[in-house]
Amino acid sequence: MIAEGAMLGPNQPVILHLLDIEPASEILKGVKMELMDGAFPLLKDVIATTDVTEACRGVDIAIMLGGFPRRKGDGKDLIFKNVGIYKAQASALDQYADPNCKVLVVANPANTNALILKEYAPSIPEENITSLTRLDHNRALSQISENLKVHVGDVRNAIIWGNHSSNLYPDANHATVDIGAGHKPVKELIADDQWLKTEFITNVEQRGQAIINARRLSSAFSTASAACDHMRDWILGIPKGTWVSMGVYSDGSYGIQPGLIYSFPVTCKKGEWSIVQGLKIDEFSREKMDAVERELIEEKTMAYSCLH
Ligand code: LMR
Repeated sequence: MIAEGAMLGPNQPVILHLLDIEPASEILKGVKMELMDGAFPLLKDVIATTDVTEACRGVDIAIMLGGFPRRKGDGKDLIFKNVGIYKAQASALDQYADPNCKVLVVANPANTNALILKEYAPSIPEENITSLTRLDHNRALSQISENLKVHVGDVRNAIIWGNHSSNLYPDANHATVDIGAGHKPVKELIADDQWLKTEFITNVEQRGQAIINARRLSSAFSTASAACDHMRDWILGIPKGTWVSMGVYSDGSYGIQPGLIYSFPVTCKKGEWSIVQGLKIDEFSREKMDAVERELIEEKTMAYSCLH
C-alpha cells in the first residue's frame, strides 16, 4: 500500500526500510523480492534487514508493527516483554532516525508501547510519537454506516477515546452523516440511544477479537489500511470541520492525565495534529473516558516498573 502511494499520495517516492528478527530473515528476503517484482513506480529502494541500526538510519516515518503478541491472561508479563523490544528499537530511532521522524505504534499494547518508545527516544519530539486507534475509528464508522444503511464515506467525526483495548470508548455523540444538503447528527438518525450505549460500543470494542475468532489470525489488511489512513491524514491533512482519532501524548485536554498516550479526536494540518477542543461531554461519556484512563494509568505504572 505504501509503495502504491496509499500512505503518502501518488507523487511521493518512497524508500522502504523493513526490519525483522533474525529467524525471519529468509521470509524478509521473499518480501523484498515481491516488492521488487511489484515494479512500483514510487518505490525507489527496499532495505530489508535484521539490523535495527540499518533499519532506523535516516527514516522519516517509523511504523512499529513488531511486538510480543497479546494473549489471554497477559498483563505485566506482556508489558515486560514489550519494554525489551521497544527499548532496542526506540534507542536506534533516537540515534539514527531523522530528528523529526514521525512514529506510529501499531503493535499491542499500542498506547503503552508508544509510551515506552517515548521514554527511550527522548530526542524525538513527543508530538511525533503516536499510536493507532484509527482502526477502531474506522470500525465505528463502519458500524454506524451498517446500522443506517448509508455509505461509510458519508459518515464522519466518530471518536475513539482512550486505549486500543477492549475498554476503548467509541463515541458517536458528535458524529454526522452527509445527507446531500448538509450533515445530520448520527444520534438523531439512529434515534436509539440504547443501541449507541450498548451494542455499538461492544461491537467496536470486540471487533479485533471477532476477527481473530473468525480468521484465527489478527486483523491484517484493515490494520494496514488504518495505518496508512493515520499517516496520510497526519502528514497531508484533513478537510476543515472533520476529525479523526489518534493515540497522542495527553496535554490534559478533557481532564485526561497528562503524559498518557490517549486516543483523542484530532484535526491534522501540514504534518501537525491538534486535539479538537470544546466538545460537550455527557455523564455517560465521562465515565467511559475515565475508566479507560484508569486502564492506561495501570498499564503505565506496570511499564515504568519494568523500565531501565
Ligand atoms: C485488532 O484490534 O484487530 C487487534 O488489535 C487484535 C489483536 O489483539 O491482535
